[in-house]
This record gives sequence, structure tokens and C-alpha cells, in this order.
Amino acid sequence: MHVDLYEKLWMWGAGVLVAVFVGAVVYTAAAQAIHPPSHMETIDPAAARTDPRFANPGVTERPDGGVEVVMLAQMFSFLPGEIRVPAGRPVTFRVTSPDVMHGFQVVGTNANAMVVPGYVTEFTVTFPQPGEHLIVCNEYCGMGHHVMHAKLVVEGGAP
Ligand code: CUA
Repeated sequence: MHVDLYEKLWMWGAGVLVAVFVGAVVYTAAAQAIHPPSHMETIDPAAARTDPRFANPGVTERPDGGVEVVMLAQMFSFLPGEIRVPAGRPVTFRVTSPDVMHGFQVVGTNANAMVVPGYVTEFTVTFPQPGEHLIVCNEYCGMGHHVMHAKLVVEGGAP
């Protein structure tokens, strides 16, 4: 079968692009620990503040040795505005929004997720080192988007 030279070049070019894209997905998943969301849980955004799952935002111990952080992302703050978690233990974040879409990024870590009204964003991270991190909203959510932030303190050392 005869294939024209330009046809061959386009085929190889397209093949290389596919390989680069698949490679980028594999690289970010393996080397940068970026994962697609896998948690599916719904909530009524209008009742999010009084929903029993979010009525008392904060940090609680889990029986499995990890901690759970329940947070509200709202215009234009995170509730609570400061959280303290232990280093070296799995931290499960559960975040929802009572208003519009927000972002939840713990700067300097791979904790980064979208907070979509109507859904509970859940993911688990372990912070190996003690330290302070800024939590920022990285989805434009309105006039106060740029002031929407919180503080995460990772506490370490011997108990
Ligand atoms: Cu919340 Cu931007």
C-alpha cells in the first residue's frame, strides 16, 4: 500500500502527540501524585451550614489513626480559618460550598481540589513535615476571591 510522504508525517506527528499526552498523564499521576476525584457524595448547598456533616467544621480524630478536617468554603472565607493537623498521619479533608464554586489548595503540597456546591469534596493527604501552609481559593468566585484564604498548621515533633 502506498502512503504519501505528507500523510506519513502527519500520522507520525499525531502518534507522537498522543504519546506526549498519555506520558503527561502518567508522569503527573506517578511523579506528582495528582489523582482524579473519586469521591461522590451530594449535599444540599442551601442547607450545607446546618447539615449534620458540616454543622461543626473543624478537626476530629478518626478511629483508624488519621484525622478528619471538615471545612466550608464560602464567599469569601474558609471555615474554620485556621486548622492544625499532625505531621505524618493521613489527613482526610471534607469540604463543601454553600454558595458558588471555590478552589481548595494547600500551597506547597499536592492538596488541591475543586469545591463544587452540591457535592462533598473528599481527599486524603499526609503531610510529612511540620510547618505552616497557606490555604487558598484558586477558582475565581467573586469580588472577594483574592482575600479567600486560611491557614494550615502541620504540627510535628514528639508528642
Ligand atoms: Cu473562593 Cu475564589
